[in-house]
Parts: sequence; structure tokens; C-alpha cells
Amino acid sequence: MIKIEKKIIYFDNSATSFPKPEEVYKASEKAMRIYGANPGRGGHRMAVEASKEIFKVREKVANLFNIKDPLRIAFTQNSTYALNFAIKSCINKKGHVITTALEHNSSLRPLFSKRDSGEIELELIYPEKNGEISIEKIIESIKEDTIAVVVNHISNVTGTIVDIEKIGKVTREKGVMLIVDASQSAGYLDIDVERDGIDILCFTGHKSLYGLQGSGGIYIREGIDFIPIIEGGTGSFSKLERQPLVMPEGLEAGTLNTLAIVSLGVGIEFIQKVGIENIREHEDRLKQRFLIELKKIPEIEVYGSDNRGPVVTLNIKGIDSGDLAAYLDEEYGILVRGGLHCAPKIHEAIGNGENGGVRFSFGFFNTDEEVDYAIKALKEIVTENSN
Ligand SMILES: Cc1ncc(COP(=O)(O)O)c(C=O)c1O
Repeated sequence: MIKIEKKIIYFDNSATSFPKPEEVYKASEKAMRIYGANPGRGGHRMAVEASKEIFKVREKVANLFNIKDPLRIAFTQNSTYALNFAIKSCINKKGHVITTALEHNSSLRPLFSKRDSGEIELELIYPEKNGEISIEKIIESIKEDTIAVVVNHISNVTGTIVDIEKIGKVTREKGVMLIVDASQSAGYLDIDVERDGIDILCFTGHKSLYGLQGSGGIYIREGIDFIPIIEGGTGSFSKLERQPLVMPEGLEAGTLNTLAIVSLGVGIEFIQKVGIENIREHEDRLKQRFLIELKKIPEIEVYGSDNRGPVVTLNIKGIDSGDLAAYLDEEYGILVRGGLHCAPKIHEAIGNGENGGVRFSFGFFNTDEEVDYAIKALKEIVTENSN
């Protein structure tokens, strides 16, 4: 049981958004109670109803990312699964792959595993000390045998925004597959797979798309072949001995998480009702308010540049990042994350590879007052630490 005698201020939206919009809670309960049957398995009315609701969410995701055919989207339990499918199922010939040190372990580990088994030659592009990745460096690294570029749209550590559209123009021209990790950007930045030249988009539902944990998905452009890494029931093509090579069934083995998928659809509706630009404006204002005050505290080191999403990672000189995060929770009820955030290479690049950093990540339900309170708390800790 969490101690709630102090008020809780939740600044860990990059890990998962909290709270969810009220509609998400209500729709999730309804999904469990009204159409809790197995979607795509059986023809009775409740199973059909569950399938229909899932298809509606496919359409909502397609609409959000300007995906022409909703059936090119497979639901997964999060972006880790989506990225594993992208890297292990879709990069299926030998060649050169480019990625960046901004990536999360859910891209890095499958890529390193492919490199170690000799399937790919992997090139890792490092950012500047401020987390900025040179797009020119990525583009210049494309060689004759480059088959894919795997890139994180927004770093979950420095918040750095990568110009996907600029990369996409070149990769499309050169016939190189562009795989984008939109875990931190979906719902905050406008993503258009056509305009941005994205061949494979991986997203998670429980962060800035406001769905429940257990939701996420992958879009794969028409014409890209995949080799399923998980095989099983699809509710269709049952006589085939092997997994059907069609989307979405090919990547949707086993019972889907109807509840989480429905919640994702409601999260997307919420974003579209509020307006993605209004969400971004609100979160950017909080981020700016925080950054302006942080700059006045010399004992605090802030990582990253001005080109960032609503994520601010910092350290107080002389304090372990895990200890600071724990102290903020215990003493002030401020919930943030310390450590390496499953993205060790970016921490190396910005110079805190051992200690990591304390990440404050803002969401639509945070307020100016909460930011001011966090600043007050940090100032007090700095003073206590210097005494
Ligand atoms: C950039 C990035 N990619 C991938 C992931 C993995 O997301 P999930 O845990 O939902 O699979 C995260 C989660 O923090 C992330 O920030």
C-alpha cells in the first residue's frame, strides 16, 4: 500500500502516463463487462463484438499516424515486442544497419543480438554531449549494403527530438528501411508515416497515448516481408501448418489483450478531442517553467538541449541519482525515476554512464503548481546537501 499522507506528484509519465483520462477507466471496465469474449475466436455475438471493437481501434491508430490500411497494424503488448518484431522479423537479410546511442534497450538488445550472431553489421551513431544527433552523420553513414536505419524519435533520457522526416526522405530515396521507435513521441508529436517516410512504426499504448499497460503495436508498410518469431493460434488460416504471412494475423499469435487495446482507442480519442497541439503546448510550458528555474541553481546539472520533448533529466552534484529519486518520493511525494532508464548508451554519451540521472517527465495532467513545488523541493535538497 502506498503511503498517501503526503500528496503524490507524478512526474514519471515517460515510464507510463498517470493518471489516465477518466474515459479510459470507464471504457476498460465496460470492455471487461460487456464484451469480454475472445476476439476473432468463434462466431458468437460477444466474440464478434470484441473483434469489431478491436478493428475500430486499428482504424483509430491508422487515422492518428496517417496509415492507409489499418490491417497493416498488428497489436502487441508494448513497444518492446513491436521493436523485437521490427528488428527480428523484418530485418531478415544480411547487411549494414545504422542506429543511434539514443536508443532504448528494447531496440539495442535485439540489434546487438543480431550483430553478435553475425546477421548484421551494426553502426552506432553517437550524439553530441548535449544529446543532439547529427542527421547528416546518419545519412552519410548509409552505404551500398545498408538495409535499415533504426531510430528513436524522442529520447527517454534527454528528451532529444530526432528529425525523422529528414531521415525518411533519404532512406526512402535510397530504398533503406526506416524503423522508428515512437514510444515517447506518439501522442505528443504529429506522426505521419507517409510524410515522414516511415516503413515500420513501433509504439506503446500506455505512455503518451493514455492507454493501459499491455497495449502497443507495430505498423509495417505494404511490401515489407516478415518472418514471424512467435507462432500460434490466429483464429483464421487454422489449417496452415505455419504462421500465416499476412498482416495483422502473422504478428498476432494468441489471444489479443482486448481490454488494453480498447483503452488505447479511448486514449487516442482523448488526444484527438483535446488536440495533440494543445497537449504538446501544455507539456512544453511545464517543461520550460521547470528548465528556467533549474538554470538558476548552479548545483544542478541538466542534460540535453532546447530541442526536447517533455523530459528533463538532471543530477545534483554529489548525490546518487537513485538516492535523490528515493528522497524526492519519501520526503516530498514527488515520483520520478533515477538510474539509467534502460538506455545506457545515451547516459555514456552525456557523461553520466555510471550514476545515471533523475528524470522528470511531464504529462497532460501535471500543473504549474506541481512544477513549482518540485523546484522548491530541489532547492531545499541542494541547500541541505551543501550544509
Ligand atoms: C524510447 C523507448 N523505447 C521503448 C520503450 C519500451 O516501452 P515498453 O516498456 O512499453 O515496451 C521505452 C519505455 O520506456 C522507451 O522510452
